[in-house]
Amino acid sequence: MPTIRPARLHDLSAITEIYNEAGVGTTASWALEPVTLEDRRAWFMSLTRKDYPVLVLVDADSIVGFASYGPFRPLAGWAPTVEHSVYIREGYRSAGGGRMLLNALIDYARGRGVRTMVGVIDGANDHSVAFHERMGFTQVGRIEEAGLKFGQWHDAVFMARKIDDGPPS
Ligand SMILES: CC(C)(COP(=O)(O)OP(=O)(O)OC[C@H]1O[C@@H](n2cnc3c(N)ncnc32)[C@H](O)[C@@H]1OP(=O)(O)O)[C@@H](O)C(=O)NCCC(=O)NCCS
Repeated sequence: MPTIRPARLHDLSAITEIYNEAGVGTTASWALEPVTLEDRRAWFMSLTRKDYPVLVLVDADSIVGFASYGPFRPLAGWAPTVEHSVYIREGYRSAGGGRMLLNALIDYARGRGVRTMVGVIDGANDHSVAFHERMGFTQVGRIEEAGLKFGQWHDAVFMARKIDDGPPS
């Protein structure tokens, strides 16, 4: 049975591998070059230092997925809105791991002042759009030809879900 826990520094090589496999060779992410372990270490430190989560999905002692969120926009007034991402290693997809990780991110975000989570998804990434719809996210916007990868324009689809309905505090 897979489990979820906060990522540790020694998980970063698996996270780097999953990100490069799932995100760089495809349009799941618009990174154009593989990221290095050092890049991921800087990313990990910049998030965790500010109490943003980096979670891993562990199956039989192997890291098979990770998820995180960080600021959607940098100005302080945007703090209630975060942008998340979820990556599952090839071969482990469609087995409920993405749902587990995203639910764990939502649990983490509740009680930390987060009101809305946003996924920014390549318009052609039908899997991720379908996954987010199943997870209660709705399409709230689309920027046509926002990105350029593999010599082609790509639309950015914004999918949001409100996770808290309380009054401002
Ligand atoms: C998108 C991704 C995170 C989804 O994770 P996953 O483990 O494959 O998805 P799950 O098995 O947890 O599915 C959760 C729900 O989404 C639905 N879903 C997932 N993929 C789907 C698809 N391609 N079409 C339709 N529904 C889909 C599942 O049916 C499930 O709903 P259910 O529980 O009601 O049946 C994963 O496929 C992935 O890492 N893809 C490559 C990287 C990527 O695109 N990341 C997102 C970047 S924004």
